[in-house]
Amino acid sequence: MAAESGKSWVLAVTAQTPTNIAVIKYWGKRDEELILPINDSISVTLDPDHLCTTTSVAVSPAFTHDRMWLNGKEVSLSGGRYQNCLRELRSRASDVEDEQKGIKITKKDWEKLHVHIVSYNNFPTAAGLASSAAGLACLVFSLAKLMNVKDDHSRLSAIARQGSGSACRSLYGGFVKWIMGKEENGSDSIAVQLADEKHWDDLVIIIAVVSSRQKETSSTSGMRETVETSMLIEHRAKEVVPKRIVKMEEAIKNRDFPAFARLTCADSNQFHAVCLDTSPPIFYMNDTSHRIISCVEKWNRSEGTPQVAYTFDAGPNAVLISHNRKAAALLLQRLLFYFPPQADADLNSYVIGDKTILQDAG
Ligand code: DP6
Repeated sequence: MAAESGKSWVLAVTAQTPTNIAVIKYWGKRDEELILPINDSISVTLDPDHLCTTTSVAVSPAFTHDRMWLNGKEVSLSGGRYQNCLRELRSRASDVEDEQKGIKITKKDWEKLHVHIVSYNNFPTAAGLASSAAGLACLVFSLAKLMNVKDDHSRLSAIARQGSGSACRSLYGGFVKWIMGKEENGSDSIAVQLADEKHWDDLVIIIAVVSSRQKETSSTSGMRETVETSMLIEHRAKEVVPKRIVKMEEAIKNRDFPAFARLTCADSNQFHAVCLDTSPPIFYMNDTSHRIISCVEKWNRSEGTPQVAYTFDAGPNAVLISHNRKAAALLLQRLLFYFPPQADADLNSYVIGDKTILQDAG
């Protein structure tokens, strides 16, 4: 075992994972512990230059327990979600050998060795920009590398899912579908790539950061309350989303922007309608979000065909997907005119990026 060579060595891996934004939303679980959703969802993975998590993980016989730091502050790893991910990864770990450093870790050693995890988001945490998606995906991906877990990305996605549902979709770049699955143990609730990041590279994504404050109702508790109290949620999950998923897959395959935009906007609006149908109602969007929707709707109508799609997660920030660079330039012009970013304004910054792929910085 590696520990034979004394307590002086450290083995580390660093990885970078972008966040993803759902165009057909996941909202509601059928199993809270395993994080199994009530419907399929589809997302687009974003550019890591702007919205990504960088995580370094290290193992050493000198570490006495598992520890984690998020954005420079130590956080507890005692929560069930972290523990589930760590347990799953440890059970799949393989032998690791670093000849240069004279390190040899056997599969059995992983049960006793402890890890340290250091994670940074280059964007606001818990502000409705899917920080948990990038964070948990990156944690699982980097630990899997460190522990020489041989599972493919789909199997890893089932582990990331147990950290945060939407995280499973960040294991891939491009367009990704999270299949809800049927099995009680969640083995078939995995993410698959529908199209890689080159498939539709004309799309440009602009994120209007309306507020970088942490949201009042977390996605986890918000969706629990919706499942418990909303009458609309069952209709959405059973009747609406299955049909939308088929249409969205077709729109992505054919790069059919008008269909893509209509479905994306409709699904965002229905997700927020379901939040309003929750008791007590959940308000994730604010007046600025509503004004952005009106502005895009007006523009799309005046052009005769959609130029831009909007979608809002569990927060007021707008994710705007433009058909191409020309549409993105015009959109930005309009946004800067109607919503100039200022420190004390309703809207404080814009982030512009393309779709991308998972990056391994290690
Ligand atoms: C609105 O994945 O954050 O962003 O599984 O409880 O961790 P947990 O929830 P989370 O929910 C994301 C909800 C959403 C829609 C989506 O990403 O599909």
